Amino acid sequence: MPKRTTGRYERATVGGEEVAAFIPHALPPADPPIVVDAALTERIRTAEQALVRLELAGEMVPSLDWFIYAFVRKEAVLSSQIEGTQATLVDLLTFEAQEGAEPSAHPNADVEEVGNYLEALAFTRTQLADPKGLPLSMRVLNETHRLLMRGVRGAEKHPGEVRRSQNWIGGTRPGNAMYVPPPPHALGEVLSAFEKYLHADDTLPPLVRAGLLHVQFETIHPYLDGNGRIGRLLVTLLLEHWKLLTKPLLYLSLFFKRHREEYYRRLNAVRLDGDWEGWLDFFLEGVATIADEAVASARELFALVAADRTRVLAHEGMSIAALRLFELLPRHPVVTVASVMKLVETTKPTAGRATELLVAAGVLVETTGRKRDRSFVYQGYLDRLRVGTELDERGEVLRLDKTKTS
Ligand SMILES: Nc1ncnc2c1ncn2[C@@H]1O[C@H](COP(=O)(O)OP(=O)(O)OP(=O)(O)O)[C@@H](O)[C@H]1O
Ligand SMILES: [Mg+2]
Repeated sequence: MPKRTTGRYERATVGGEEVAAFIPHALPPADPPIVVDAALTERIRTAEQALVRLELAGEMVPSLDWFIYAFVRKEAVLSSQIEGTQATLVDLLTFEAQEGAEPSAHPNADVEEVGNYLEALAFTRTQLADPKGLPLSMRVLNETHRLLMRGVRGAEKHPGEVRRSQNWIGGTRPGNAMYVPPPPHALGEVLSAFEKYLHADDTLPPLVRAGLLHVQFETIHPYLDGNGRIGRLLVTLLLEHWKLLTKPLLYLSLFFKRHREEYYRRLNAVRLDGDWEGWLDFFLEGVATIADEAVASARELFALVAADRTRVLAHEGMSIAALRLFELLPRHPVVTVASVMKLVETTKPTAGRATELLVAAGVLVETTGRKRDRSFVYQGYLDRLRVGTELDERGEVLRLDKTKTS
């Protein structure tokens, strides 16, 4: 690993303590530049091929919507968990099934945060796809941040605004921080260099550039909070923007979560030892791993829905309303009779019957045990979807497929 300097330090005072704030050099890495040697070339090739498989899996799936939906939700739920909140997929979907009935009644801040994440992603993709929309820039990232951090918890975190105070990462106070990002007065300079590199003509492969930009973003830490989430979204957006994927199909949260210690260590090593190569190795492995897992998930979800559809079609007394409901379940795996009325656009008795038919066919399961205000879930589907997003009692990421435990 070549030793290189990736920035300079500047004395800063925070809360009466002297700290050394780090100001990163502009990308790309220099002295020496990144050498794309045989090993790195191989890593890039492996990751790119996994992305091609993912792109194809995305096209094979009859409803691309629900495929993306599942992964966006995974990322959203995982992001909240990394932050220490605990919204589960079921919480989120239950909330969504009830939403509309009483939109003001946010059950808790976690779920709100996850909803924000989805809106932020949708907004940013629309902007970037629209020739008249915002270009890829700090401005669009700020707007994404504003949507992400909206609401009670984020209010004092200055949503949508680059910080104006000194922050620090890890530790209980500035003096024992793991890392002190650039002082606020330097943010203008480092962020405009960051933006410039977003659009620079660089000979490095786009996947490598996305990896560099992620680290640079985390190193700059432009916001008071939400830097991890925006930095990961950036990768997803860049892959789409640079046409490595035509849809936002790759979410690295799970990988960073599984290897959190190594993730933080690698980020530090870029700053402390200039070890961009080590970071790229880790990052590209993450891209390949997550892409392959997404392909496997797509296949599993597809097979599950296909098998259930066969069962539903063969079920005695099946109704058109129930079939319509079944086709909507992948996007709405938690329903109530009231939400079914809206989804299928039908009367309460028809919605109730359709729901009961899918219960009888073994697709839906009632979860509340109540006589009223009942909630039904597409259990098999949720079990698949939950894989990798919830932690078991040992704090391990829940996985159904034991052979893939990492
Ligand atoms: N030593 C470090 N150097 C640079 N960046 C770091 C370091 N340790 C952590 N980070 C980055 O900081 C992020 C956390 O920052 P912040 O709390 O602002 O983001 P978040 O979106 O709220 O949280 P999270 O990423 O945990 O979901 C981590 O995800 C990681 O990307
Ligand atoms: Mg945070």
